[in-house]
Amino acid sequence: MSDEFQPLLTSRYGIEGSHTLAVAEKHGAYRTARRALTMMSPEQIKEEVKKASLRGRGGAGFPAGVKWGFLNPKEGEEVYLVVNGDESEPGTFKDRTIMNQDPHRLIEGILITCWAIGAHTAYIYVRGELKHSIDSLDAALAEARTKGYVGDRPFGKPHPIHIWTHSGAGAYICGEETALLNSLEGRRGEPRLKPPFPAVKGAFGMPTIVNNVETISAVPDIVELGGERWCSLSRLAPTDGGVRLYGISGHVKKPGIYEAPVGITMRELIYDYGGGMLHDDHPLKAVIPGGSSTPVLRPDWTVDAPNEDHPLHAWHGKSELDVPMGVDTYRALGTMLGTCCATVMDDTVNMVEACRNLMRFYRHESCGQCTPCREGGAWLVDVLDGLLSGRGKVDDVNMLVDIANNMMGNTICAFGEGTAMPLLGFVQRFADEFVEVAKRGLPLDVRHDESTRALVKGGVAA
Ligand SMILES: Cc1cc2nc3c(=O)[nH]c(=O)nc-3n(C[C@H](O)[C@H](O)[C@H](O)COP(=O)(O)O)c2cc1C
Repeated sequence: MSDEFQPLLTSRYGIEGSHTLAVAEKHGAYRTARRALTMMSPEQIKEEVKKASLRGRGGAGFPAGVKWGFLNPKEGEEVYLVVNGDESEPGTFKDRTIMNQDPHRLIEGILITCWAIGAHTAYIYVRGELKHSIDSLDAALAEARTKGYVGDRPFGKPHPIHIWTHSGAGAYICGEETALLNSLEGRRGEPRLKPPFPAVKGAFGMPTIVNNVETISAVPDIVELGGERWCSLSRLAPTDGGVRLYGISGHVKKPGIYEAPVGITMRELIYDYGGGMLHDDHPLKAVIPGGSSTPVLRPDWTVDAPNEDHPLHAWHGKSELDVPMGVDTYRALGTMLGTCCATVMDDTVNMVEACRNLMRFYRHESCGQCTPCREGGAWLVDVLDGLLSGRGKVDDVNMLVDIANNMMGNTICAFGEGTAMPLLGFVQRFADEFVEVAKRGLPLDVRHDESTRALVKGGVAA
């Protein structure tokens, strides 16, 4: 962990009253928005965001500057900005820290973005359970309206910007951008077919930019420092720029949210930021890198990139934990960076059980629109239940892989892949454990779940 690192996104965290306008403004809030709206053209701002290589922080890592460039509103069309604060993926808990502790940073980012993309209305869609975040945003918006920062003439500019929060009802699928748009419009939260992409036909049929809370919250710093300088703060510049929030939870001593340059390693995240493994006598077994939809990594697996053309050649033979955490590097590793919120598991965790736990979540959260996802998710849980209760056969492990492969690419939205990919990751990296469980049920030394153990004993005896 570098002592020289100057926090940007989290610079106001921990300051008493940081969520209030007076305190936030005393510590720099709205300075950049004022300058951007009064002295910079939309083109200049878009150029800085492009130079920044700001990769979307909501999971897919798409460059924000490029996405904004897709907007091409026709005569009479209104442009919308929709900020995604649904944050419902297991293991992910970063956006709420911004909304709770520094809502004015997000509002400032929204003001600058609306000016840059020509939007007059922005919606912040927040998961319904995050009541504290919604209250915090609403209070901050009320203050910003009173000051005139949000309203008909922000900082005197005759470019009205109105911002509203909208609460979801606790469905994970409503984080998917088109399901979110349907939900925002009062329809069922089911994903739409793409194309058309939201930038062409989004909220209320109008061109819409959907960006994650953290993505938009990075915009003030990008404009303040300049895109190139912000980008260069990353260890993976120029393709994956800046700083970001890293989450860490599970079996570590100091779970939490930490800001750091893009491109620190998982080893640093776990041992430097996260304080190391929770119990010194229980070593790291596996880590899910970025929200539950990303395939698991294991410390004793090494990078296989002997070919000099391989993007990870420099890490050939090193542990997966030593690859810099970036959108492209993690894709090359066969996983995804996702939301960059890692879940750490020590050797007390049985991987088949962990996998079933996640698959239960996906089964429950599938919107049911696409058969491969609706049926596949439920089937995966059935097969895993069978394995864990001692009723399974080794061939069931192949069946898991078959089911997951048939979900991949066969659904309207990425939820299908979000279910299949972690399943395939667990089976690939812990095949021995799956086969072991298939042969014998859950090992009896798995100590943390008495009810499962009782079930397994029954299964083994039968
Ligand atoms: C099932 C599912 C859930 C998602 N949940 C979220 C979420 O809670 N927050 C988020 O920002 N993006 C989420 N996404 C990604 C969004 O569809 C979209 O890519 C993102 O909001 C775009 O913002 P970004 O480019 O700034 O990352 C989800 C995607 C899927 C498939």
